[in-house]
Amino acid sequence: AKEPLRVCVTGAAGQIGYSLLFQLAEGNVFGRDQPLILQLLDITPCLPALNGVVMELQDCALPLIRDVIGTADPLVAFKDIDAAFLVGAMPRREGMERKDLLAANVKIFKEQGDALDKVAKKTVKVLVVGNPANTNALICSKYAPSIPKENFSAMTRLDQNRAQAQVAAKLGVPNGSVRGCIIWGNHSSTQFPDVSHAEAEVDGRWVPVPEAVNDQQFLRGEFITTVQKRGAAIIAARKLSSAMSAAKAACDHMHDWFAGTPAGRFVSMAVFSDGSYKTPEGIMYSFPVTIENGQWKIVQGLAIDDFAREKMDATAKELCEEREEAIAACA
Ligand code: NAI
Repeated sequence: AKEPLRVCVTGAAGQIGYSLLFQLAEGNVFGRDQPLILQLLDITPCLPALNGVVMELQDCALPLIRDVIGTADPLVAFKDIDAAFLVGAMPRREGMERKDLLAANVKIFKEQGDALDKVAKKTVKVLVVGNPANTNALICSKYAPSIPKENFSAMTRLDQNRAQAQVAAKLGVPNGSVRGCIIWGNHSSTQFPDVSHAEAEVDGRWVPVPEAVNDQQFLRGEFITTVQKRGAAIIAARKLSSAMSAAKAACDHMHDWFAGTPAGRFVSMAVFSDGSYKTPEGIMYSFPVTIENGQWKIVQGLAIDDFAREKMDATAKELCEEREEAIAACA
Protein backbone atom coordinates (compact mmCIF):
# COMPACT_ATOMS: atom_id res chain seq x y z
CA ALA A 1 0.00 0.00 0.00
CA LYS A 2 1.17 3.57 -0.68
CA GLU A 3 2.45 5.78 2.13
CA PRO A 4 0.05 8.66 2.86
CA LEU A 5 0.83 12.05 1.31
CA ARG A 6 0.68 15.02 3.65
CA VAL A 7 -1.31 17.81 2.04
CA CYS A 8 -1.88 21.26 3.51
CA VAL A 9 -4.77 23.55 2.66
CA THR A 10 -4.72 27.08 4.10
CA GLY A 11 -7.85 29.19 4.42
CA ALA A 12 -9.47 25.81 4.98
CA ALA A 13 -12.48 27.31 6.78
CA GLY A 14 -13.24 29.55 3.77
CA GLN A 15 -15.40 29.16 0.69
CA ILE A 16 -12.83 27.71 -1.70
CA GLY A 17 -11.59 25.41 1.04
CA TYR A 18 -15.07 23.97 1.48
CA SER A 19 -15.26 22.94 -2.17
CA LEU A 20 -11.63 21.98 -2.51
CA LEU A 21 -11.41 19.67 0.47
CA PHE A 22 -14.02 17.25 -0.73
CA GLN A 23 -12.54 16.91 -4.21
CA LEU A 24 -9.12 16.41 -2.68
CA ALA A 25 -10.32 13.93 -0.07
CA GLU A 26 -12.17 11.91 -2.71
CA GLY A 27 -8.93 11.30 -4.60
CA ASN A 28 -9.44 13.63 -7.57
CA VAL A 29 -6.00 15.19 -7.25
CA PHE A 30 -3.51 12.54 -6.19
CA GLY A 31 -5.37 9.44 -7.31
CA ARG A 32 -7.99 7.15 -5.88
CA ASP A 33 -5.36 4.81 -4.45
CA GLN A 34 -3.35 7.49 -2.64
CA PRO A 35 -3.98 7.80 1.12
CA LEU A 36 -3.89 11.35 2.50
CA ILE A 37 -3.21 13.19 5.72
CA LEU A 38 -4.88 16.61 5.54
CA GLN A 39 -3.27 19.46 7.48
CA LEU A 40 -5.64 22.41 7.56
CA LEU A 41 -4.67 25.96 8.48
CA ASP A 42 -6.82 28.95 9.25
CA ILE A 43 -6.54 31.93 11.59
CA THR A 44 -7.47 31.68 15.27
CA PRO A 45 -10.89 33.44 15.04
CA CYS A 46 -11.90 30.86 12.41
CA LEU A 47 -10.84 27.79 14.39
CA PRO A 48 -14.42 26.94 15.49
CA ALA A 49 -15.54 26.95 11.84
CA LEU A 50 -12.45 24.96 10.87
CA ASN A 51 -13.33 22.41 13.50
CA GLY A 52 -16.72 22.02 11.86
CA VAL A 53 -15.02 21.28 8.54
CA VAL A 54 -12.79 18.71 10.24
CA MET A 55 -15.90 17.05 11.70
CA GLU A 56 -17.57 16.95 8.30
CA LEU A 57 -14.53 15.41 6.66
CA GLN A 58 -14.61 12.76 9.33
CA ASP A 59 -18.32 12.19 8.68
CA CYS A 60 -17.68 11.63 4.98
CA ALA A 61 -16.04 8.34 6.05
CA LEU A 62 -13.75 8.50 3.04
CA PRO A 63 -11.46 5.56 2.43
CA LEU A 64 -8.35 7.62 1.58
CA ILE A 65 -8.29 9.85 4.65
CA ARG A 66 -5.84 8.72 7.32
CA ASP A 67 -5.95 11.84 9.48
CA VAL A 68 -7.22 15.43 9.46
CA ILE A 69 -5.47 18.09 11.50
CA GLY A 70 -6.94 21.59 12.03
CA THR A 71 -4.63 24.29 13.38
CA ALA A 72 -3.83 28.01 13.42
CA ASP A 73 -0.09 27.35 13.59
CA PRO A 74 1.73 27.29 10.22
CA LEU A 75 4.56 25.25 11.77
CA VAL A 76 2.06 22.49 12.53
CA ALA A 77 0.16 22.81 9.25
CA PHE A 78 3.30 22.71 7.08
CA LYS A 79 5.14 19.98 8.99
CA ASP A 80 6.56 17.40 6.52
CA ILE A 81 4.06 18.25 3.78
CA ASP A 82 4.32 17.03 0.19
CA ALA A 83 1.88 19.56 -1.29
CA ALA A 84 0.30 22.85 -0.23
CA PHE A 85 -2.72 24.72 -1.48
CA LEU A 86 -2.21 28.25 -0.14
CA VAL A 87 -5.74 29.58 -0.40
CA GLY A 88 -6.02 31.66 2.77
CA ALA A 89 -5.58 35.38 2.26
CA MET A 90 -6.93 38.64 3.53
CA PRO A 91 -10.06 39.68 1.65
CA ARG A 92 -10.51 43.18 0.30
CA ARG A 93 -12.53 45.30 2.70
CA GLU A 94 -14.52 48.34 1.78
CA GLY A 95 -12.38 51.42 1.40
CA MET A 96 -9.19 49.36 1.18
CA GLU A 97 -6.79 50.39 -1.55
CA ARG A 98 -5.25 47.76 -3.81
CA LYS A 99 -1.87 48.72 -2.36
CA ASP A 100 -2.99 48.08 1.23
CA LEU A 101 -4.44 44.74 0.23
CA LEU A 102 -1.19 43.75 -1.44
CA ALA A 103 0.86 44.80 1.58
CA ALA A 104 -1.35 42.87 4.01
CA ASN A 105 -1.23 39.74 1.89
CA VAL A 106 2.43 39.64 1.08
CA LYS A 107 3.14 39.81 4.81
CA ILE A 108 1.06 36.65 5.27
CA PHE A 109 3.01 34.94 2.51
CA LYS A 110 6.34 36.08 3.91
CA GLU A 111 5.46 34.45 7.22
CA GLN A 112 4.22 31.30 5.50
CA GLY A 113 7.33 31.10 3.30
CA ASP A 114 9.42 31.27 6.43
CA ALA A 115 7.40 28.46 8.05
CA LEU A 116 7.56 26.29 4.91
CA ASP A 117 11.31 26.76 4.87
CA LYS A 118 11.53 25.49 8.43
CA VAL A 119 9.26 22.45 8.42
CA ALA A 120 7.98 21.37 4.98
CA LYS A 121 9.65 18.67 2.88
CA LYS A 122 12.15 20.23 0.48
CA THR A 123 10.28 18.52 -2.35
CA VAL A 124 6.96 20.19 -1.41
CA LYS A 125 4.94 21.60 -4.31
CA VAL A 126 3.26 24.88 -3.38
CA LEU A 127 0.28 26.27 -5.27
CA VAL A 128 -0.76 29.80 -4.34
CA VAL A 129 -4.43 30.63 -4.91
CA GLY A 130 -4.90 33.54 -2.49
CA ASN A 131 -4.68 36.94 -4.18
CA PRO A 132 -2.61 38.68 -5.42
CA ALA A 133 -1.62 35.10 -6.27
CA ASN A 134 1.41 35.66 -8.52
CA THR A 135 3.10 38.11 -6.19
CA ASN A 136 2.18 36.16 -3.07
CA ALA A 137 3.88 33.11 -4.60
CA LEU A 138 6.96 35.16 -5.41
CA ILE A 139 7.25 36.39 -1.82
CA CYS A 140 6.52 32.97 -0.37
CA SER A 141 9.38 31.48 -2.37
CA LYS A 142 11.73 34.34 -1.49
CA TYR A 143 11.30 33.56 2.22
CA ALA A 144 11.71 29.81 1.71
CA PRO A 145 15.20 29.77 0.20
CA SER A 146 15.90 26.13 1.07
CA ILE A 147 13.04 24.97 -1.18
CA PRO A 148 13.72 25.05 -4.95
CA LYS A 149 12.11 28.01 -6.75
CA GLU A 150 10.54 25.62 -9.25
CA ASN A 151 8.38 24.22 -6.43
CA PHE A 152 6.31 27.42 -6.25
CA SER A 153 3.52 28.35 -8.63
CA ALA A 154 0.39 30.49 -8.71
CA MET A 155 -2.97 29.64 -10.15
CA THR A 156 -4.21 30.86 -13.52
CA ARG A 157 -5.97 27.58 -14.27
CA LEU A 158 -9.39 29.05 -13.50
CA ASP A 159 -8.76 31.63 -16.21
CA GLN A 160 -7.63 28.89 -18.60
CA ASN A 161 -10.75 26.85 -17.86
CA ARG A 162 -12.92 29.92 -18.37
CA ALA A 163 -11.27 30.58 -21.74
CA GLN A 164 -11.78 26.97 -22.83
CA ALA A 165 -15.44 27.02 -21.83
CA GLN A 166 -16.05 30.34 -23.61
CA VAL A 167 -14.59 28.99 -26.86
CA ALA A 168 -16.56 25.74 -26.55
CA ALA A 169 -19.77 27.71 -26.01
CA LYS A 170 -19.06 29.97 -28.98
CA LEU A 171 -18.48 26.95 -31.24
CA GLY A 172 -21.27 24.86 -29.73
CA VAL A 173 -18.90 21.95 -29.01
CA PRO A 174 -18.24 20.05 -25.75
CA ASN A 175 -15.54 21.45 -23.44
CA GLY A 176 -13.34 18.45 -24.26
CA SER A 177 -13.29 19.51 -27.88
CA VAL A 178 -11.22 22.63 -27.12
CA ARG A 179 -7.58 22.50 -26.02
CA GLY A 180 -4.49 24.67 -25.85
CA CYS A 181 -5.96 27.93 -24.49
CA ILE A 182 -3.17 29.95 -22.86
CA ILE A 183 -3.21 32.50 -20.04
CA TRP A 184 -0.19 34.80 -20.08
CA GLY A 185 0.92 36.94 -17.16
CA ASN A 186 -0.87 38.01 -14.02
CA HIS A 187 -4.02 36.52 -12.49
CA SER A 188 -5.68 39.93 -12.66
CA SER A 189 -7.58 41.98 -15.16
CA THR A 190 -4.37 42.50 -17.17
CA GLN A 191 -4.04 38.77 -17.93
CA PHE A 192 -3.92 37.85 -21.59
CA PRO A 193 -6.18 34.92 -22.54
CA ASP A 194 -4.79 33.73 -25.88
CA VAL A 195 -6.40 31.23 -28.23
CA SER A 196 -4.07 31.74 -31.18
CA HIS A 197 -2.37 28.38 -30.41
CA ALA A 198 -5.54 26.57 -29.37
CA GLU A 199 -7.38 23.90 -31.34
CA ALA A 200 -10.98 22.78 -31.49
CA GLU A 201 -12.56 19.58 -32.73
CA VAL A 202 -15.21 20.47 -35.24
CA ASP A 203 -16.93 17.76 -37.27
CA GLY A 204 -14.35 15.20 -36.17
CA ARG A 205 -11.32 17.28 -37.19
CA TRP A 206 -8.97 19.35 -34.95
CA VAL A 207 -8.53 22.82 -36.40
CA PRO A 208 -6.93 26.03 -35.08
CA VAL A 209 -9.40 27.97 -32.93
CA PRO A 210 -8.95 31.24 -34.86
CA GLU A 211 -10.01 29.35 -38.00
CA ALA A 212 -12.88 27.50 -36.30
CA VAL A 213 -14.31 30.65 -34.67
CA ASN A 214 -13.50 32.80 -37.71
CA ASP A 215 -14.25 36.05 -35.90
CA GLN A 216 -11.09 37.95 -35.04
CA GLN A 217 -13.02 40.88 -33.65
CA PHE A 218 -14.64 38.57 -31.07
CA LEU A 219 -11.41 36.77 -30.18
CA ARG A 220 -9.50 40.03 -29.72
CA GLY A 221 -12.35 41.83 -27.98
CA GLU A 222 -15.34 40.35 -26.21
CA PHE A 223 -13.70 36.98 -25.61
CA ILE A 224 -10.73 38.53 -23.81
CA THR A 225 -12.77 40.93 -21.69
CA THR A 226 -15.26 38.20 -20.76
CA VAL A 227 -12.46 36.02 -19.36
CA GLN A 228 -10.71 38.98 -17.70
CA LYS A 229 -13.90 40.16 -16.00
CA ARG A 230 -15.48 36.79 -15.23
CA GLY A 231 -14.53 36.92 -11.55
CA ALA A 232 -16.31 40.26 -11.13
CA ALA A 233 -19.37 38.95 -13.02
CA ILE A 234 -19.65 36.03 -10.59
CA ILE A 235 -19.35 38.30 -7.56
CA ALA A 236 -22.08 40.54 -8.99
CA ALA A 237 -24.36 37.55 -9.57
CA ARG A 238 -23.66 35.46 -6.49
CA LYS A 239 -22.67 38.18 -4.03
CA LEU A 240 -19.80 35.83 -3.27
CA SER A 241 -16.65 35.14 -5.26
CA SER A 242 -16.19 32.08 -7.43
CA ALA A 243 -15.39 29.21 -5.10
CA MET A 244 -16.58 25.99 -6.79
CA SER A 245 -14.80 26.80 -10.05
CA ALA A 246 -11.70 28.09 -8.24
CA ALA A 247 -11.50 24.90 -6.18
CA LYS A 248 -11.91 22.75 -9.29
CA ALA A 249 -9.16 24.69 -11.05
CA ALA A 250 -6.83 24.29 -8.05
CA CYS A 251 -7.41 20.53 -8.22
CA ASP A 252 -6.70 20.52 -11.97
CA HIS A 253 -3.47 22.49 -11.43
CA MET A 254 -2.11 20.25 -8.66
CA HIS A 255 -3.26 17.08 -10.44
CA ASP A 256 -1.35 17.96 -13.58
CA TRP A 257 1.72 19.05 -11.61
CA PHE A 258 1.94 15.61 -10.00
CA ALA A 259 0.60 13.45 -12.84
CA GLY A 260 2.13 15.34 -15.79
CA THR A 261 0.64 16.60 -19.03
CA PRO A 262 -0.26 14.22 -21.88
CA ALA A 263 2.19 14.21 -24.84
CA GLY A 264 1.83 17.29 -27.01
CA ARG A 265 -0.44 19.11 -24.54
CA PHE A 266 0.23 22.03 -22.22
CA VAL A 267 -1.45 23.86 -19.35
CA SER A 268 -1.02 27.38 -17.99
CA MET A 269 0.48 28.11 -14.62
CA ALA A 270 2.31 31.07 -13.14
CA VAL A 271 5.95 30.15 -12.53
CA PHE A 272 9.26 31.99 -12.22
CA SER A 273 10.14 33.61 -15.52
CA ASP A 274 13.51 32.65 -16.96
CA GLY A 275 13.13 35.41 -19.54
CA SER A 276 11.18 33.22 -21.98
CA TYR A 277 9.11 35.20 -24.49
CA LYS A 278 11.00 38.35 -23.49
CA THR A 279 9.33 38.50 -20.09
CA PRO A 280 11.24 40.05 -17.16
CA GLU A 281 13.23 37.38 -15.38
CA GLY A 282 12.24 36.55 -11.82
CA ILE A 283 8.58 37.54 -11.82
CA MET A 284 5.86 34.88 -11.41
CA TYR A 285 4.35 34.96 -14.88
CA SER A 286 1.76 32.60 -16.27
CA PHE A 287 3.10 30.56 -19.20
CA PRO A 288 2.05 27.47 -21.09
CA VAL A 289 4.02 24.58 -19.58
CA THR A 290 4.44 20.86 -20.12
CA ILE A 291 5.01 18.70 -17.04
CA GLU A 292 6.93 15.46 -16.68
CA ASN A 293 7.97 13.73 -13.44
CA GLY A 294 6.69 16.67 -11.41
CA GLN A 295 8.88 19.17 -13.29
CA TRP A 296 7.37 21.90 -15.46
CA LYS A 297 8.97 23.33 -18.58
CA ILE A 298 7.89 26.48 -20.36
CA VAL A 299 6.72 25.66 -23.90
CA GLN A 300 9.14 27.34 -26.30
CA GLY A 301 8.87 28.66 -29.80
CA LEU A 302 5.24 29.78 -30.00
CA ALA A 303 4.80 32.63 -32.47
CA ILE A 304 3.91 35.95 -30.79
CA ASP A 305 2.34 38.64 -32.98
CA ASP A 306 2.24 42.38 -32.25
CA PHE A 307 -1.19 42.18 -30.66
CA ALA A 308 -0.03 39.47 -28.24
CA ARG A 309 3.27 41.24 -27.57
CA GLU A 310 1.54 44.35 -26.36
CA LYS A 311 -0.77 42.43 -24.04
CA MET A 312 2.05 40.27 -22.69
CA ASP A 313 4.16 43.35 -21.94
CA ALA A 314 1.31 45.14 -20.15
CA THR A 315 0.68 42.28 -17.74
CA ALA A 316 4.46 41.89 -17.18
CA LYS A 317 4.67 45.56 -16.30
CA GLU A 318 1.96 45.17 -13.68
CA LEU A 319 3.79 42.19 -12.18
CA CYS A 320 7.03 44.18 -11.94
CA GLU A 321 5.18 46.95 -10.12
CA GLU A 322 3.59 44.45 -7.75
CA ARG A 323 7.00 42.92 -7.07
CA GLU A 324 8.42 46.30 -6.10
CA GLU A 325 5.51 47.12 -3.82
CA ALA A 326 5.69 43.67 -2.25
CA ILE A 327 9.40 43.86 -1.53
CA ALA A 328 8.89 47.32 0.01
CA ALA A 329 6.05 45.98 2.18
CA CYS A 330 8.26 43.16 3.49
CA ALA A 331 11.22 45.38 4.34
P1 NAI B 1 -12.80 33.24 2.07
O1 NAI B 1 -12.72 34.60 2.66
O2 NAI B 1 -14.09 32.52 2.03
O3 NAI B 1 -11.76 32.28 2.80
C1 NAI B 1 -10.46 32.67 3.09
C2 NAI B 1 -10.04 31.96 4.36
O4 NAI B 1 -8.66 32.25 4.56
C3 NAI B 1 -10.80 32.44 5.60
O5 NAI B 1 -11.28 31.33 6.32
C4 NAI B 1 -9.71 33.20 6.38
O6 NAI B 1 -9.90 33.12 7.77
C5 NAI B 1 -8.46 32.45 5.94
N1 NAI B 1 -7.22 33.18 6.18
C6 NAI B 1 -7.00 34.52 6.16
N2 NAI B 1 -5.75 34.78 6.49
C7 NAI B 1 -5.14 33.60 6.73
C8 NAI B 1 -3.85 33.24 7.13
N3 NAI B 1 -2.90 34.16 7.38
N4 NAI B 1 -3.57 31.91 7.27
C9 NAI B 1 -4.51 30.99 7.05
N5 NAI B 1 -5.75 31.28 6.68
C10 NAI B 1 -6.08 32.58 6.52
O7 NAI B 1 -12.17 33.41 0.60
P2 NAI B 1 -12.23 32.40 -0.63
O8 NAI B 1 -13.38 32.72 -1.49
O9 NAI B 1 -12.04 31.00 -0.16
O10 NAI B 1 -10.93 32.88 -1.45
C11 NAI B 1 -9.63 32.72 -0.94
C12 NAI B 1 -8.62 33.47 -1.78
O11 NAI B 1 -8.56 32.94 -3.10
C13 NAI B 1 -8.92 34.97 -1.96
O12 NAI B 1 -7.69 35.67 -1.84
C14 NAI B 1 -9.42 35.06 -3.38
O13 NAI B 1 -9.18 36.34 -3.93
C15 NAI B 1 -8.56 34.00 -4.04
N6 NAI B 1 -9.04 33.50 -5.33
C16 NAI B 1 -8.10 33.22 -6.30
C17 NAI B 1 -8.46 32.72 -7.51
C18 NAI B 1 -7.42 32.41 -8.57
O14 NAI B 1 -7.84 32.10 -9.68
N7 NAI B 1 -6.13 32.49 -8.31
C19 NAI B 1 -9.87 32.46 -7.83
C20 NAI B 1 -10.78 32.74 -6.76
C21 NAI B 1 -10.36 33.25 -5.55
